Amino acid sequence: MPKIRCAVVGVGNCFAGLVQGIEYYKRHPEEKVIGVMHEKIGGYTIQDIEFVASFDVGENKVGKSLGKAVYEYPNKVRWTDAVSCCSGIVKEAPILDGIGIYVENMIKPIKQTKTVKQLKEEAVAEIKRTGARIILNHLPVGSQKATEFWAEVALETGCGMVNAMPVFIASTPAWAKRFKEKGLPVLGDDYKGMVGATIVHRTLAKLCDMRGTKIDKTYQINVGGNTDFSNMLERSRLQSKKISKTESVQSQLSQRLEDDQIYVGPSDFIPFLGNTKLMFMRIEGRMWANIPYNLEVRLEVDDKANSSGVSADALRYVQFALDKKIGGPLIGPSAWLMKHPPFQFSDSEAKDLADRFEKEGFNTPPSGR
Ligand SMILES: NC(=O)c1ccc[n+]([C@@H]2O[C@H](COP(=O)([O-])OP(=O)(O)OC[C@H]3O[C@@H](n4cnc5c(N)ncnc54)[C@H](O)[C@@H]3O)[C@@H](O)[C@H]2O)c1
Repeated sequence: MPKIRCAVVGVGNCFAGLVQGIEYYKRHPEEKVIGVMHEKIGGYTIQDIEFVASFDVGENKVGKSLGKAVYEYPNKVRWTDAVSCCSGIVKEAPILDGIGIYVENMIKPIKQTKTVKQLKEEAVAEIKRTGARIILNHLPVGSQKATEFWAEVALETGCGMVNAMPVFIASTPAWAKRFKEKGLPVLGDDYKGMVGATIVHRTLAKLCDMRGTKIDKTYQINVGGNTDFSNMLERSRLQSKKISKTESVQSQLSQRLEDDQIYVGPSDFIPFLGNTKLMFMRIEGRMWANIPYNLEVRLEVDDKANSSGVSADALRYVQFALDKKIGGPLIGPSAWLMKHPPFQFSDSEAKDLADRFEKEGFNTPPSGR
C-alpha cells in the first residue's frame, strides 16, 4: 500500500503523542496496537502514517527538523527518544489568532515578517513539493482564523483534512459543501478522546435516559496541566469548545436540559498535572416515585494517549476516502471520533456507521436532519 502522507499544523502535545505512539509500536512489533478502532482501516496500519510537512509558530520549533521539534518545550510527551515517521523541517505558519494570552510566554511565537498571502503561497508550495495528501489540524482552541486559513490551503492543494479541534469546519454546511464540491474528505470537528470525558459522560447520560429516569442536572469539570489547558483559561477563546462539549452530551438526551442545568467545560489549569487530565462528572436525577439518585465519576487519563488513537484512526479514514474518491464530511467516522460532527448519533450507531463506511463506503447523511 502507498503510505499516508500527511502535513501537520501545530506540532504540539497531541502530535507528539501520535508520532511517539507510532514509534512505540514500531519498536514493539510483538504488541497488539490498542486504543484504535481496527488494526487496519482501508487496508492501512498505523505504520503507514508518515508526516512529510509541518507548520508551527513556536520559536523552539520553526526551522528545526520535525523529528526534533516534537520534543521541544512546551511539549511534554516523552514516550520514545526518537520518531521515524517524521521528515522535513517545520515551516512558519501565520499566527493569526493562534496564540492566546496565557500561552504566549510558553510558545514564544516567532516574529512574523511575511504577509499572510506570502505564507499561504509558501504553505501551498511546501504541501505540493512534499506530496502531502492530508492536513491534520492541531491548532489551539480559539484559532478560528488560523483554522480557516488551513481549510483554504487544503481546498487549494487538493488535500483531505482532519480537524482535531473545536473550530467548526466539517460541521459547518458552507465548508462541508466546499469540500464536497472539490471531492475532498473532511473529518471533524474536535476529537472525542478514546476513553475521554465526553464519551464517558455521553454514555452514562444516555444510559440514565434510556432506563427511563429523568436527569435533572449534570456537570463535567476537567483540569489538566499542559498548554491546551492553560490556553483554555482564556474564556473568550472557549466559545466553540463549550458548544462542542455541551452539545455532545445534550445530543444523547431524549429531552434537552435547560442551559442552566448543564455545565460541561474545561475548568482549570494545574501545572504539575502535565498531560494528566482529571475529569469530575455528576448526574442528578429522579426515578420511580420521584425518588432522587445521583452518580459521580472521576476519570484520570493521559490526555495525549487518549487523543492519539483517534488521530491514527481519523487519518486512515481520510486516506481511505481519498482512495475511494469520497468527498465532503465523513458522516460515520466523524460521529464516532469527534465531539462535534456534522450529525450526532448514539455512540453505538456511530460505530456501526464508521464500520459501514470502511466496508462499503457508506457516507449518506441521515434523512430529515
Ligand atoms: N485529548 C486531547 O488531547 C484533545 C481532545 C480534543 C481536542 N483537542 C485539541 O487539539 C488541539 C491540539 O492540542 P495540543 O494538546 O496538541 O495543543 P498544544 O498547545 O500542545 O499544541 C499546539 C501547537 O500549535 C502551535 N501553534 C499555535 N498557534 C499556531 C498557529 N497560528 N499556526 C501554527 N501552529 C500554531 C503551538 O506552537 C503548538 O506547537 C487543541 O485545540 C486541543 O483542544 C485535544
